[in-house]
Amino acid sequence: METLILVTAILALVLSVIIYRLSLHPLAKYPGPLLGRITDCYSVYHCLKGDRYLDFMELHNRYGNIVRYGPNRLSFSTVGALQAIYGPQANTKKSHWYDNMTLFMKVASTHATTDKIEHSRKRRILAQALSDRMVHVYEDGFRNLLTAFLRRFSDPTSQTEGGWSTAFDMSEELMLLNFDSMGSFCFGESFGSLQNPRKADITEKTLEGFRGLNAIGHMPGLAWLKLDALAFRTSRAIKEYEDHAASIADRCIQKMDAKLRQGERLSCVFDILYATSERPDIEGFTLPELRSESTLLVTTGTDTVAGTLANILFHLLNHPQCIVQLTTEVRTTFSNIGEIYTGKALNSCKYLVACIDEGMRLSSIVGGCLMREVGPGGITVDGRVIPAGVDVGVPHHVIMRNSRYYDNPLEYQPERWMSAEDNADKVKAARAAFCPFGIGPTGCVGKAWALVEMKITLAQLLFRYDLQIIAQSDEGGLSAAQLLQLREEKSLDRFVITNKGPFVRFREAKVDGAVRGSM
Ligand code: HEM
Repeated sequence: METLILVTAILALVLSVIIYRLSLHPLAKYPGPLLGRITDCYSVYHCLKGDRYLDFMELHNRYGNIVRYGPNRLSFSTVGALQAIYGPQANTKKSHWYDNMTLFMKVASTHATTDKIEHSRKRRILAQALSDRMVHVYEDGFRNLLTAFLRRFSDPTSQTEGGWSTAFDMSEELMLLNFDSMGSFCFGESFGSLQNPRKADITEKTLEGFRGLNAIGHMPGLAWLKLDALAFRTSRAIKEYEDHAASIADRCIQKMDAKLRQGERLSCVFDILYATSERPDIEGFTLPELRSESTLLVTTGTDTVAGTLANILFHLLNHPQCIVQLTTEVRTTFSNIGEIYTGKALNSCKYLVACIDEGMRLSSIVGGCLMREVGPGGITVDGRVIPAGVDVGVPHHVIMRNSRYYDNPLEYQPERWMSAEDNADKVKAARAAFCPFGIGPTGCVGKAWALVEMKITLAQLLFRYDLQIIAQSDEGGLSAAQLLQLREEKSLDRFVITNKGPFVRFREAKVDGAVRGSM
């Protein structure tokens, strides 16, 4: 009898919550999937499935510019919303979703810090280490790694007929390059995965960890059920990763003490952050914060740059006219590969920048929806008042494929970014909706470095090699649009979106019989 009463009471409670959320809740008037309007299980399901960005596109196609995808969550698709939610004056802060990272990480990194004042303190310090001036200092280390990376494609063991190499999975290859690059950038030493790819295994574990973390962020109660431990081993993966970075960080600290004593040049991000922790005039990072921050940088910097470059290559190779135009630009701008570094000549490569921007627009690497919580007093988005406490956001794929801002939004067209007198307004409208790095005070602090890496990598790759894409067994005869659809069906959105491929063969490019790479 008592059990019956308990069950009835629970059912009555659940029913009243459902009725409230569907009819009386302040967001009840907004459309969205029934399950999403009732419970965050909807988001958890898509986070675990890894198709969250695809689902957001489908939801906006079905319901329009505003979608209620969680009981207390709204997704928007306009430039007005982008500014109101993420802009410099926005009355929002990072949502509680970000707090859940501290369930797994001992100290909140800048990315996981939700308090606005604390976030801006950390961000100011981080920005010093990632300034344009410092980026030039780190570039030398990166170019050395890039040379080792490029050599892999002409290794005699990987050669087949006609001077072509075997096919390489560029998602994997670029992951090795960028993992090592982040080691050198953050800690002044490569992780050595280009020599021993097993050393990058930890990146896949961390991504799986993030899949669980992404889900738990939507329903923190799941952390207590320990479901993530069974399914995605989030705690273990993140801990393993933290320990890995912490041991390197500790080694760095020892080296730093010697460097500071001997007045040596500060040459990696860790050096700069450590030096600020010693300064009496600013509240620098504490040692635990320093460890947490460097762990964050390696994770945020590896998968994003590697995945974006792989996406850009995928689009270029499926649009032969684009890769021809880009290759011509690179090979006519530079006369030898050693000239390809940040400077006037690289900056003059306008088509290169357009190809990168277009790749990031069409295939943004950050999936899902970056949630911000509305502050006291609410905000107005496109004329609608959204009350305090609601989680709001603009999914990258939704806004950057919105036909209101981009003609033929599903097509890869670098030309759309090339300004001319007759299309200045179009370029301006496209720019306003362009947000692969996020915007405002919580946007990407590593953007300058990411762009340097991407420009130099693409330019050196196309200068030195001719490239040929190898179709997989299920890809024969498909159009570029169909290939993109297939790639996205196979992708995984674990906060950052990952893919396989493109699979590419390489051949040393020649000019007058001489190999270009040796020029
Ligand atoms: C193509 C490459 C990249 C893309 C598209 C990208 C994109 C983004 C985006 C969209 C955010 C906002 C995330 C959020 O609100 O949750 C972000 C934040 C961040 N990114 Fe990047 N990122 C890239 C590369 C990098 C690199 C190379 C680094 C490190 C050097 C980096 C460091 C960070 C950090 C530290 C944050 C947190 C900023 C904060 O909370 O204030 N990113 N990035």
